[in-house]
Amino acid sequence: MDRAAAFAALEAHRVEIASRRTVDFFAEDPQRFAHFSVRLDDLLYDYSKNRLTRATLGHLFDLARAARLEERREALFSGEKINNTEARPALHMALRNFSGAAVRVDGADVMPAVEAERAKVAAFARAVREGAIRGARGEAFTDVVNIGIGGSDLGPAMAARALSPFASPELTAHFVSNVDGADIADTLAGLDPARTLFIVSSKTFTTQETMANAASARAWIAQALGEAAVADHFAAVSTKLDKVAAFGIRPDRVFGFWDWVGGRYSMWSAIGLSLAIAIGPEHFEDFLRGGHDVDEHFRSAPLSHNIPVLMGLIGVWHRNIWGFAAQAVIPYDQRLARFPAYLQQLDMESNGKGVLRDGASSPRATGPIVFGEPGTNSQHAFFQLLHQGTEVVPVDFLIAAEPTEADDKHHVLLFANCIAQSEAFLRGRSEKEVREILRAQGLNSAQIDELAPHKVFSGDRPSSTLLYRQLTPRALGRIVALYEHKVFVQSVIWDINPFDQWGVELGKELCSRLAPLVADASADLSGLDGSTGGLIAARRALLPG
Ligand code: F6P
Repeated sequence: MDRAAAFAALEAHRVEIASRRTVDFFAEDPQRFAHFSVRLDDLLYDYSKNRLTRATLGHLFDLARAARLEERREALFSGEKINNTEARPALHMALRNFSGAAVRVDGADVMPAVEAERAKVAAFARAVREGAIRGARGEAFTDVVNIGIGGSDLGPAMAARALSPFASPELTAHFVSNVDGADIADTLAGLDPARTLFIVSSKTFTTQETMANAASARAWIAQALGEAAVADHFAAVSTKLDKVAAFGIRPDRVFGFWDWVGGRYSMWSAIGLSLAIAIGPEHFEDFLRGGHDVDEHFRSAPLSHNIPVLMGLIGVWHRNIWGFAAQAVIPYDQRLARFPAYLQQLDMESNGKGVLRDGASSPRATGPIVFGEPGTNSQHAFFQLLHQGTEVVPVDFLIAAEPTEADDKHHVLLFANCIAQSEAFLRGRSEKEVREILRAQGLNSAQIDELAPHKVFSGDRPSSTLLYRQLTPRALGRIVALYEHKVFVQSVIWDINPFDQWGVELGKELCSRLAPLVADASADLSGLDGSTGGLIAARRALLPG
């Protein structure tokens, strides 16, 4: 069977089950929760609240086989150059490999270099935390500012917040990313230069935003402590060591990684240095081990019990067969507040592609629009649309069984809210039920007729839940790696390259052309389209003087 036939079989199957409701599937199979959930140690993936049956899964596994998923997975792990437009492997799994097995790129084992860099990160993190590495005036660092953007920011920033209970109380990690000068200004406002360490994180070391922020940080240190202090207050993480040297960062403060690590897959590398300093090298290693747990699971579990495979295939079922364009990710975990933003880059920069690996146009929809906010706040913001809007948006709920350093009573309410929402999405509330409730409340029939339609919930809105024991470094590593591999699974089904990101290039190029026209008030704007030129001219008119 080829992909097209497998998709056609899924379409036909949808028509067959379209009139059935997920609540009926629960009624028919009292063991549905057990049958449609998978465990990985103390992590549980419950996908029973999606409108699918065993037959659906059978068709989805046929599709996976038609797309040669298992073969592609092996190609990923064995270091084939699956990032075909950049002629590179994608081997972020090597960064969290603790199996003792070699990982080869062009025949050479990369593990000795990975382990050496890992040890260097750990030693530096330890020395900063213990005050063995100090600022130019001999003071211990109290603040670490990571300067980076995209993959050089989102992962460590998300994780530092998620794992704040594991962080040293003597050190605060800050993250500056936006070229908007307000970002660095607001971050530096409360900081003491003598106690601040900057880490410039950039795979390419050319990214405009990061270079602009690094230059401002450098000037801030030089102005406060003198030019000679700069070397003591900066470290850098990059694959372009020559460019780092040109910036003036001491060689022993430079941490490398490799071009076979994609930016949005790089938090496992030295890009995680700010996180390693914040939570300590032991906790950082636990985080890496969590990622490794999932690599082993993804590589060896049969398709039917493989969490990233199931997550990916259920996403395809929703995106392509039901036509749901978006995916919400709702952590009921305030410390995962930045997880949706992190996931947006991981998912949308990876699978937001319109062409297949061979350059032909994709015959079907690819990556969904990913968004989210923590619960319960999101319930009071956009859940109205999720419950009663005209778009059906599948939801991933994430929740811990027990809180990390938080009040248990709050957690009971948090947990109850989370499962109440997924129950509401599943059940809905029929017009008959609404009418009965309104009648019991004493409304007359005219009032009931008027109100009833507004109070109906269609239900059958799909959701899955990831339940983990507690938000520890290892649990977070597992969660992140699950989503990485989910994104990979979908890219295989869609036959796209998830490891390049050409779509971000055009804007960067045009910005380089426009910046001089914005800076120079007398620059000629003819040749620009009316709106672009008009906006520059309007800005000029609004500026003082
Ligand atoms: O947004 C495009 C991008 O290239 C991302 O893929 C990357 O994570 C980010 O910019 C930052 O790049 P760098 O680490 O090279 O500064």
